[in-house]
Amino acid sequence: MNSDEVQIIKKTWEIPVATPTDSGAAILALFFNRYPSNLEKFPFRDVPPAELSTNSRFRAHAGRIIRVFDESIQVLGQDGDLEKLDEIWTKIATSHIPRKISKESYNQLKEVILEVLTAACSLSESQAQAWAKLVDHVYDIIFKAINDDGDAI
Ligand code: HEM
Repeated sequence: MNSDEVQIIKKTWEIPVATPTDSGAAILALFFNRYPSNLEKFPFRDVPPAELSTNSRFRAHAGRIIRVFDESIQVLGQDGDLEKLDEIWTKIATSHIPRKISKESYNQLKEVILEVLTAACSLSESQAQAWAKLVDHVYDIIFKAINDDGDAI
């Protein structure tokens, strides 16, 4: 990412991060709505859909996803940012390996993250491209650690 792209990401991120849990909940709600099989991996799999958005573990995962992005966006543009991103996202990949989250599931979440951010921040084409570049980069880090089934490589 060049410095213009970093600035775009930092500036547009101010909108969703102002209400982190709600932003994460919007992402997760669309994720489970569109790709319901992913719900099977979660402790709240048996919660009725209408009650999900108020479920505390649902909201916890929602907030955690946003926090990981927030930490990543804060380091962008600092010395050693690429190494730090490597560290943050390798940790995510490693902690998810026992849960066997397939690359397909990660990609489904990626699609939804970009879609929700585009809507929430009214991203222009070039702003959306900067975001796609960041998410592709962190996904490359995750995918270096797992195979298609989400097992360790
Ligand atoms: C952008 C990608 C993702 C990020 C940043 C992320 C982040 C996190 C974090 C920080 C945690 C808590 C710490 C831990 O136990 O590792 C967590 C837990 C979890 N994640 Fe993710 N995650 C991502 C993608 C996914 C995907 C695609 C799935 C599955 C479909 C998933 C399923 C889970 C499950 C089942 C838990 C445990 C939840 C609980 O026990 O309440 N994650 N995630």
